[in-house]
Amino acid sequence: MNFMKTPQIGIYATKDRLKAEAERLSACLNLPLAKQKNEYDYQVIVTPEGLGLRKTGTKILPLTIDFLSGRMTYRRQHASLRNEILARALGLKKKSPVKIVDATAGLGRDSFILAALGFEIEMLERSPIVHVLLEDGLNRAKLDPVAAPIVERMKLHQANAIEWFQQVDPDHRPDIIYIDPMFPERSKSALAKKDMRIFHDIVGADSDAEQLLNRALACAKLRVVIKRPRLSGFLADLEPAFSHTGSSSRFDIYLPR
Ligand SMILES: C[S@@+](CC[C@H](N)C(=O)[O-])C[C@H]1O[C@@H](n2cnc3c(N)ncnc32)[C@H](O)[C@@H]1O
Repeated sequence: MNFMKTPQIGIYATKDRLKAEAERLSACLNLPLAKQKNEYDYQVIVTPEGLGLRKTGTKILPLTIDFLSGRMTYRRQHASLRNEILARALGLKKKSPVKIVDATAGLGRDSFILAALGFEIEMLERSPIVHVLLEDGLNRAKLDPVAAPIVERMKLHQANAIEWFQQVDPDHRPDIIYIDPMFPERSKSALAKKDMRIFHDIVGADSDAEQLLNRALACAKLRVVIKRPRLSGFLADLEPAFSHTGSSSRFDIYLPR
Protein backbone atom coordinates (compact mmCIF):
# COMPACT_ATOMS: atom_id res chain seq x y z
CA MET A 1 0.00 0.00 0.00
CA ASN A 2 1.30 3.46 -0.88
CA PHE A 3 0.58 6.38 1.37
CA MET A 4 2.18 9.81 1.21
CA LYS A 5 1.68 9.85 4.98
CA THR A 6 0.27 6.83 6.76
CA PRO A 7 -3.20 7.88 7.89
CA GLN A 8 -4.04 7.47 11.56
CA ILE A 9 -7.20 5.41 11.97
CA GLY A 10 -9.26 4.87 15.12
CA ILE A 11 -12.48 3.07 16.04
CA TYR A 12 -15.35 5.21 17.35
CA ALA A 13 -18.68 4.17 18.85
CA THR A 14 -21.38 6.73 18.05
CA LYS A 15 -23.50 5.52 21.01
CA ASP A 16 -22.48 4.37 24.48
CA ARG A 17 -24.31 1.08 23.98
CA LEU A 18 -22.03 0.32 20.98
CA LYS A 19 -18.78 0.67 22.93
CA ALA A 20 -18.38 -3.08 23.47
CA GLU A 21 -18.57 -3.64 19.70
CA ALA A 22 -16.04 -0.83 19.14
CA GLU A 23 -13.69 -2.49 21.65
CA ARG A 24 -14.06 -5.83 19.86
CA LEU A 25 -13.20 -4.22 16.54
CA SER A 26 -10.30 -2.31 18.06
CA ALA A 27 -8.78 -5.60 19.24
CA CYS A 28 -9.57 -7.40 15.99
CA LEU A 29 -8.13 -4.69 13.72
CA ASN A 30 -5.38 -3.68 16.13
CA LEU A 31 -6.49 -0.04 15.89
CA PRO A 32 -6.90 2.38 18.82
CA LEU A 33 -10.26 3.38 20.25
CA ALA A 34 -11.16 7.03 19.59
CA LYS A 35 -12.76 8.87 22.50
CA GLN A 36 -13.86 11.85 20.42
CA LYS A 37 -15.56 12.40 17.10
CA ASN A 38 -12.59 14.10 15.48
CA GLU A 39 -9.73 12.04 16.87
CA TYR A 40 -7.40 10.48 14.21
CA ASP A 41 -7.48 11.14 10.43
CA TYR A 42 -10.07 8.44 9.76
CA GLN A 43 -12.43 6.49 11.94
CA VAL A 44 -14.21 3.19 11.55
CA ILE A 45 -17.50 4.22 13.13
CA VAL A 46 -19.85 1.84 14.89
CA THR A 47 -23.42 3.13 14.46
CA PRO A 48 -26.85 1.60 15.12
CA GLU A 49 -27.20 1.21 11.32
CA GLY A 50 -23.88 -0.60 10.90
CA LEU A 51 -20.21 0.20 10.28
CA GLY A 52 -18.87 3.15 8.33
CA LEU A 53 -15.53 4.67 7.45
CA ARG A 54 -15.27 8.42 7.81
CA LYS A 55 -12.70 11.10 7.28
CA THR A 56 -12.68 13.20 10.42
CA GLY A 57 -13.03 16.98 10.35
CA THR A 58 -14.98 16.92 7.05
CA LYS A 59 -18.61 16.79 6.05
CA ILE A 60 -18.01 13.93 3.62
CA LEU A 61 -20.56 11.20 4.25
CA PRO A 62 -19.04 8.05 5.74
CA LEU A 63 -18.39 5.16 3.38
CA THR A 64 -20.74 2.29 4.17
CA ILE A 65 -21.51 -0.90 2.29
CA ASP A 66 -25.20 -1.18 1.57
CA PHE A 67 -26.40 -3.89 -0.79
CA LEU A 68 -29.96 -2.63 -0.30
CA SER A 69 -29.27 0.90 -1.57
CA GLY A 70 -31.39 2.25 -4.41
CA ARG A 71 -28.45 2.05 -6.81
CA MET A 72 -27.62 -1.59 -6.02
CA THR A 73 -31.29 -2.54 -6.07
CA TYR A 74 -31.72 -0.97 -9.52
CA ARG A 75 -28.62 -2.75 -10.85
CA ARG A 76 -29.72 -6.07 -9.34
CA GLN A 77 -33.24 -5.80 -10.76
CA HIS A 78 -31.96 -5.02 -14.25
CA ALA A 79 -29.04 -7.46 -14.34
CA SER A 80 -29.12 -10.27 -16.87
CA LEU A 81 -26.45 -12.45 -18.47
CA ARG A 82 -26.95 -10.46 -21.68
CA ASN A 83 -26.93 -6.89 -20.41
CA GLU A 84 -24.32 -7.18 -17.64
CA ILE A 85 -20.98 -6.60 -19.32
CA LEU A 86 -19.30 -8.21 -16.30
CA ALA A 87 -21.22 -11.46 -16.89
CA ARG A 88 -20.36 -11.41 -20.60
CA ALA A 89 -16.69 -10.77 -19.81
CA LEU A 90 -16.64 -13.72 -17.42
CA GLY A 91 -18.26 -15.85 -20.16
CA LEU A 92 -21.11 -16.93 -17.88
CA LYS A 93 -23.82 -19.16 -19.23
CA LYS A 94 -27.12 -19.90 -17.54
CA LYS A 95 -26.73 -22.22 -14.57
CA SER A 96 -23.16 -23.20 -15.51
CA PRO A 97 -21.59 -24.54 -12.30
CA VAL A 98 -18.41 -22.51 -12.52
CA LYS A 99 -16.16 -21.75 -9.59
CA ILE A 100 -15.59 -17.98 -9.59
CA VAL A 101 -13.12 -16.12 -7.39
CA ASP A 102 -13.35 -12.34 -7.07
CA ALA A 103 -9.72 -11.66 -6.11
CA THR A 104 -10.32 -7.99 -5.26
CA ALA A 105 -13.66 -7.93 -3.45
CA GLY A 106 -13.51 -4.27 -2.33
CA LEU A 107 -17.04 -2.99 -1.72
CA GLY A 108 -18.50 -6.27 -3.03
CA ARG A 109 -20.66 -4.67 -5.74
CA ASP A 110 -19.43 -6.78 -8.65
CA SER A 111 -19.68 -9.98 -6.61
CA PHE A 112 -23.20 -9.04 -5.52
CA ILE A 113 -24.32 -8.70 -9.14
CA LEU A 114 -22.78 -12.06 -10.05
CA ALA A 115 -24.47 -13.65 -7.03
CA ALA A 116 -27.77 -11.98 -8.00
CA LEU A 117 -27.41 -13.71 -11.39
CA GLY A 118 -27.32 -17.01 -9.50
CA PHE A 119 -23.57 -17.74 -9.26
CA GLU A 120 -21.57 -18.77 -6.19
CA ILE A 121 -18.66 -16.40 -5.57
CA GLU A 122 -15.60 -16.74 -3.40
CA MET A 123 -14.42 -13.23 -2.46
CA LEU A 124 -10.93 -12.26 -1.33
CA GLU A 125 -10.14 -8.92 0.32
CA ARG A 126 -6.77 -8.17 1.86
CA SER A 127 -7.50 -4.88 3.64
CA PRO A 128 -8.69 -5.75 7.16
CA ILE A 129 -10.72 -2.51 7.31
CA VAL A 130 -12.45 -3.07 3.96
CA HIS A 131 -13.01 -6.69 5.01
CA VAL A 132 -14.92 -5.71 8.19
CA LEU A 133 -16.99 -3.12 6.30
CA LEU A 134 -17.87 -5.72 3.68
CA GLU A 135 -18.67 -8.38 6.26
CA ASP A 136 -20.96 -5.89 7.98
CA GLY A 137 -22.71 -5.09 4.66
CA LEU A 138 -23.21 -8.80 3.96
CA ASN A 139 -24.59 -9.43 7.47
CA ARG A 140 -27.11 -6.60 7.13
CA ALA A 141 -28.18 -7.87 3.70
CA LYS A 142 -28.81 -11.32 5.24
CA LEU A 143 -31.67 -9.74 7.22
CA ASP A 144 -33.49 -8.75 4.04
CA PRO A 145 -35.73 -11.44 2.52
CA VAL A 146 -34.81 -10.53 -1.09
CA ALA A 147 -31.06 -10.01 -0.58
CA ALA A 148 -30.54 -12.93 1.85
CA PRO A 149 -30.50 -15.75 -0.74
CA ILE A 150 -28.13 -13.65 -2.89
CA VAL A 151 -25.55 -12.97 -0.18
CA GLU A 152 -25.76 -16.64 0.86
CA ARG A 153 -23.91 -17.30 -2.43
CA MET A 154 -21.09 -14.86 -1.49
CA LYS A 155 -18.28 -16.32 0.63
CA LEU A 156 -15.85 -13.72 1.95
CA HIS A 157 -12.28 -14.37 3.10
CA GLN A 158 -9.75 -11.92 4.44
CA ALA A 159 -6.73 -12.87 2.36
CA ASN A 160 -4.14 -11.61 -0.05
CA ALA A 161 -5.11 -13.20 -3.37
CA ILE A 162 -1.47 -13.45 -4.44
CA GLU A 163 -0.81 -15.84 -1.55
CA TRP A 164 -4.21 -17.52 -1.83
CA PHE A 165 -3.61 -18.54 -5.46
CA GLN A 166 -0.17 -19.86 -4.60
CA GLN A 167 -1.57 -22.14 -1.91
CA VAL A 168 -4.73 -23.32 -3.63
CA ASP A 169 -5.35 -27.06 -3.70
CA PRO A 170 -4.72 -28.18 -7.35
CA ASP A 171 -8.03 -30.14 -7.25
CA HIS A 172 -9.95 -26.97 -6.31
CA ARG A 173 -8.54 -24.44 -8.75
CA PRO A 174 -11.08 -21.77 -9.72
CA ASP A 175 -12.48 -21.77 -13.26
CA ILE A 176 -12.66 -17.98 -13.46
CA ILE A 177 -10.69 -15.31 -11.60
CA TYR A 178 -11.93 -11.73 -11.66
CA ILE A 179 -9.57 -8.87 -10.75
CA ASP A 180 -10.54 -5.21 -10.32
CA PRO A 181 -7.49 -3.46 -8.87
CA MET A 182 -7.24 0.14 -7.73
CA PHE A 183 -5.23 2.32 -10.08
CA PRO A 184 -3.36 5.53 -9.38
CA GLU A 185 -4.93 7.02 -12.50
CA ARG A 186 -8.43 6.22 -11.22
CA SER A 187 -8.88 9.78 -10.18
CA LYS A 188 -11.61 11.33 -12.28
CA SER A 189 -14.55 9.05 -12.90
CA ALA A 190 -14.25 6.27 -10.34
CA LEU A 191 -13.21 8.61 -7.56
CA ALA A 192 -15.64 11.40 -8.37
CA LYS A 193 -17.73 10.41 -5.39
CA LYS A 194 -16.16 11.70 -2.22
CA ASP A 195 -16.81 8.54 -0.22
CA MET A 196 -14.81 6.67 -2.88
CA ARG A 197 -11.87 8.97 -2.18
CA ILE A 198 -11.96 7.79 1.42
CA PHE A 199 -11.80 4.23 0.14
CA HIS A 200 -8.80 5.08 -2.03
CA ASP A 201 -7.05 6.84 0.88
CA ILE A 202 -7.32 3.72 3.02
CA VAL A 203 -6.58 1.05 0.43
CA GLY A 204 -3.96 2.91 -1.61
CA ALA A 205 -2.96 1.96 -5.15
CA ASP A 206 -2.68 -1.76 -5.85
CA SER A 207 0.86 -1.50 -7.16
CA ASP A 208 1.30 -5.29 -7.15
CA ALA A 209 -1.62 -5.92 -9.56
CA GLU A 210 0.83 -7.20 -12.17
CA GLN A 211 2.01 -9.92 -9.81
CA LEU A 212 -1.62 -10.75 -9.02
CA LEU A 213 -2.37 -11.18 -12.74
CA ASN A 214 0.57 -13.55 -13.20
CA ARG A 215 -0.45 -15.63 -10.19
CA ALA A 216 -4.06 -15.74 -11.37
CA LEU A 217 -2.99 -16.89 -14.84
CA ALA A 218 -1.13 -19.80 -13.29
CA CYS A 219 -4.15 -20.73 -11.16
CA ALA A 220 -7.36 -20.23 -13.21
CA LYS A 221 -8.64 -23.10 -15.36
CA LEU A 222 -10.73 -21.14 -17.89
CA ARG A 223 -10.19 -17.40 -17.78
CA VAL A 224 -8.83 -14.41 -15.93
CA VAL A 225 -10.67 -11.14 -16.33
CA ILE A 226 -9.14 -7.77 -15.46
CA LYS A 227 -11.22 -4.62 -15.16
CA ARG A 228 -9.38 -1.53 -16.39
CA PRO A 229 -10.29 2.09 -17.03
CA ARG A 230 -11.63 2.19 -20.60
CA LEU A 231 -8.67 3.92 -22.21
CA SER A 232 -5.77 2.61 -20.13
CA GLY A 233 -3.06 0.27 -21.41
CA PHE A 234 -3.01 -3.45 -20.73
CA LEU A 235 -1.90 -4.53 -17.27
CA ALA A 236 1.76 -5.64 -17.40
CA ASP A 237 1.60 -4.79 -21.14
CA LEU A 238 0.15 -8.26 -21.56
CA GLU A 239 -2.20 -8.42 -24.51
CA PRO A 240 -5.49 -10.19 -23.66
CA ALA A 241 -7.23 -12.73 -25.90
CA PHE A 242 -10.04 -10.17 -26.30
CA SER A 243 -11.78 -7.33 -24.44
CA HIS A 244 -15.28 -6.07 -23.74
CA THR A 245 -15.47 -2.30 -23.55
CA GLY A 246 -18.17 -0.42 -21.63
CA SER A 247 -18.80 3.30 -21.14
CA SER A 248 -16.09 3.80 -18.52
CA SER A 249 -14.42 0.42 -18.04
CA ARG A 250 -12.83 -2.24 -20.17
CA PHE A 251 -12.69 -5.94 -19.30
CA ASP A 252 -9.58 -7.69 -20.61
CA ILE A 253 -9.98 -11.43 -20.91
CA TYR A 254 -7.03 -13.83 -20.68
CA LEU A 255 -7.37 -17.50 -21.48
CA PRO A 256 -4.79 -19.49 -19.52
CA ARG A 257 -3.21 -22.36 -21.39
C1 LIG B 1 -11.20 -1.32 -6.92
S1 LIG B 1 -11.51 -2.24 -5.47
C2 LIG B 1 -12.58 -3.51 -6.05
C3 LIG B 1 -14.02 -3.05 -6.19
C4 LIG B 1 -14.96 -4.21 -6.40
N1 LIG B 1 -14.79 -4.81 -7.70
C5 LIG B 1 -16.40 -3.80 -6.20
O1 LIG B 1 -17.23 -4.13 -7.06
O2 LIG B 1 -16.72 -3.17 -5.18
C6 LIG B 1 -10.02 -3.14 -5.21
C7 LIG B 1 -10.01 -3.92 -3.89
O3 LIG B 1 -9.13 -5.02 -4.06
C8 LIG B 1 -8.37 -5.20 -2.90
N2 LIG B 1 -7.14 -5.91 -3.31
C9 LIG B 1 -6.17 -5.46 -4.12
N3 LIG B 1 -5.21 -6.37 -4.31
C10 LIG B 1 -5.59 -7.45 -3.58
C11 LIG B 1 -5.00 -8.73 -3.35
N4 LIG B 1 -3.82 -9.07 -3.86
N5 LIG B 1 -5.67 -9.61 -2.57
C12 LIG B 1 -6.87 -9.27 -2.02
N6 LIG B 1 -7.46 -8.06 -2.17
C13 LIG B 1 -6.83 -7.17 -2.95
C14 LIG B 1 -8.13 -3.80 -2.38
O4 LIG B 1 -7.85 -3.81 -0.99
C15 LIG B 1 -9.47 -3.13 -2.70
O5 LIG B 1 -10.37 -3.25 -1.63
